[in-house]
Amino acid sequence: MNLSDAVHARHTVKAFDGGRALPQAQIDTLLTVLHQTPSSVNSQPWHYVVAATPEGRARIAKATTGAYAYNQPKVLNASHVIALCMHADLDEAHLKAVLEQEARDGRFVADGAREAQDKTRRSYVAQHRYELRDVPQWMEKQVYIALGGLLLGAATLGIDATPMEGFDARALDLELGLRERGLTSVVLVALGYRSDENDFNAKLPKSRLPREQVFTFV
Ligand SMILES: Cc1cc2nc3c(=O)[nH]c(=O)nc-3n(C[C@H](O)[C@H](O)[C@H](O)COP(=O)(O)O)c2cc1C
Repeated sequence: MNLSDAVHARHTVKAFDGGRALPQAQIDTLLTVLHQTPSSVNSQPWHYVVAATPEGRARIAKATTGAYAYNQPKVLNASHVIALCMHADLDEAHLKAVLEQEARDGRFVADGAREAQDKTRRSYVAQHRYELRDVPQWMEKQVYIALGGLLLGAATLGIDATPMEGFDARALDLELGLRERGLTSVVLVALGYRSDENDFNAKLPKSRLPREQVFTFV
């Protein structure tokens, strides 16, 4: 689907078709979208947990009870559910891992390029740590860039999707053992085939504020 058609055709799916599985090739393409997401100073402060089986989706669904129960059928009946997670800290080990990967990928051609890149990245990290004191928010913003890419990528492939902030992040972190790994969950995306019968949102028009309210041209 071309971009223009995709942005109009997509909507947040409110009911999926009984766990019907998406083709693996399409999932692989979307995982590549996540993997290739750009981030500030190439910090890549994310991790993705992909639930591709009924058992995996059931584990994620444990975080959609109580006030979040409205999202549980979406989690259970999607094809795949991806938990977009972030690192709780931008620690030394992660900074070193990113630098080493850049070296392996052949980024440092010129003399001193490696040191310059490390210094620049660390200066941004120090600014967010000590002046702005917003390292977690900064990392979370990068995860939301990944979310945007994933939703647009899914729309372009004609894949139905539901972004969800409506889940118990603590419960999910504990269920998936994320905190032991220095990770915490940010947002879920369910992917699959919408239920023609029950996805009420498919029949509703989308609603956006008027263009003139949203754009200023200077
Ligand atoms: C970050 C984010 C979190 C959202 N969380 C939920 C959610 O928990 N459950 C849900 O049904 N929809 C959720 N939505 C869907 C929004 O309500 C929806 O995107 C918005 O109303 C615009 O409608 P559209 O996506 O159909 O264009 C979320 C959307 C975003 C971007």
